[in-house]
Amino acid sequence: MIRPGQIEDLKRVSELWHDLYEHEQSHGMILRISDNAVEIWREQMLSRLSQRTNVLLVAESDGDIVGFLSGQMKILGDLFIGGLSAIIQDLYVAPQNRGAGLGRMLTESAVSIFSDFGIDSIEVQVAHRNEVSLAFWTALGWHPEIIQVRRMLSLSNKDTKSTTQGLKTLGFAQKANRTIG
Ligand SMILES: CC(C)(COP(=O)(O)OP(=O)(O)OC[C@H]1O[C@@H](n2cnc3c(N)ncnc32)[C@H](O)[C@@H]1OP(=O)(O)O)[C@@H](O)C(=O)NCCC(=O)NCCS
Repeated sequence: MIRPGQIEDLKRVSELWHDLYEHEQSHGMILRISDNAVEIWREQMLSRLSQRTNVLLVAESDGDIVGFLSGQMKILGDLFIGGLSAIIQDLYVAPQNRGAGLGRMLTESAVSIFSDFGIDSIEVQVAHRNEVSLAFWTALGWHPEIIQVRRMLSLSNKDTKSTTQGLKTLGFAQKANRTIG
């Protein structure tokens, strides 16, 4: 069963979010999540739940949450035709529940919600060695678009919280919680 995620689901969903990022990092994602990333993600999602531009869906099987999808709507601006866009930031189905159509159902439910809002297009980032994911999106009729490359300039484990706060005072905007679908 696919249903909207609620506050009380966030503990379980954030565990799945952690599993998703471990999966992405083993499939080509270079950026590493911080030690308290799960906690930060849960807090961000808690504040996003009340926003109409936010989508959180969960997949239940035998009373347990075994998959989830998160996404957000955004405005691309006047540079592009079809400027109302959405991003699916996270999509994950627990290994033992894969191949049963849950990924497809989560995605089609999100597409239906975005479509009702008049969204023109939806994007997803895929880790470059995640061949199953690419096969999944292709099977659902999505098209490969951009390949992202990254060069790390620092591998140090600096205090990201104080760095982020310092940069914000310099006028840096914090990018919306991204990332790989
Ligand atoms: C990608 C993922 C969400 C797919 O979820 P799922 O519930 O297993 O997918 P579905 O059962 O809905 O499959 C839908 C279609 O995708 C394709 N597909 C799914 N798994 C596949 C695989 N292992 N190999 C090739 N194609 C596959 C099939 O065409 C399938 O349709 P079919 O069952 O009619 O043949 C799941 O594998 C997952 O969570 N992977 C780890 C995290 C991840 O990669 N997330 C996406 C990041 S962008």
